[in-house]
Amino acid sequence: PRRIRTHHLREAKQRGERFSMLTAYDQYTAQIFDEAGIEVLLVGDSASNNVYGNETSLPVTVDELIPLTRAVTRSARRALVVADLPFGSYQASPEQAYLTAVRFMKEAGAHAVKLEGGLPMTPQVRKLVDGGIPVMAHIGFTPQSEHTLGGYRVQGRGEAASQVVAEAKAMQEAGAFAIVMEMVPGDVAAEVTAALDIPTIGIGAGNRCDGQVLVWQDAFGLRTGRMPRFVKQYADVRSILLEAARTYAAEVASGEFPGPEHTF
Ligand code: KIV
Ligand code: NA
Repeated sequence: PRRIRTHHLREAKQRGERFSMLTAYDQYTAQIFDEAGIEVLLVGDSASNNVYGNETSLPVTVDELIPLTRAVTRSARRALVVADLPFGSYQASPEQAYLTAVRFMKEAGAHAVKLEGGLPMTPQVRKLVDGGIPVMAHIGFTPQSEHTLGGYRVQGRGEAASQVVAEAKAMQEAGAFAIVMEMVPGDVAAEVTAALDIPTIGIGAGNRCDGQVLVWQDAFGLRTGRMPRFVKQYADVRSILLEAARTYAAEVASGEFPGPEHTF
């Protein structure tokens, strides 16, 4: 299959075609989502929660994300693989951002990187793009700033809408190839999407974005418990694994497994 490139996403927008992105952090999910036709795989810093068991995305490190990213780039034949830059690895300066992004490109084979933030991150975006690294921006609710934003809250309501539009335009101007918008009102996301030449990717941003993204453990039911309203559950993977593990344990306890057919 032909590799998805950043220009394909822009062309999809021009044709009015929507595309999808999912997180992936390992070999098999990358293979499965790639085979399913998901255009973009994001090795999100949400691996902090969903792989490493942290409560927020803040603790995860570059050294922890690089091996996961390498697993995904080795396994996805068609999808564009985007590596998330973790908290503290790019905000200090454009130079810091560049050195971090280069590690994801060289050591992990990423095709692009994603970073959070609006206007203050424009020098970072420009530096990476000038250095040959495609950048996906992420605005609206940005989890790495949850302590500043006061928890998980919709961004860009009322007066703040114009700020979201301005941030999106600044990211496009700085050279970003796409923009994730998280938890912004559907009307605001639609306005941004119409105002930009580059594609928008929504999560909790309504269906008038050019693409959508979800965290796979949320969407396919590996994680359970309180879920944000924007998540739709397409499968119940946790129940399947739970049932399989219980059956296995019961068969070991009873001596039913291994049977003669499993025995040399
Ligand atoms: O880390 C992540 O999973 C993300 C998506 C939710 C966009 O940034
Ligand atoms: Na992220």
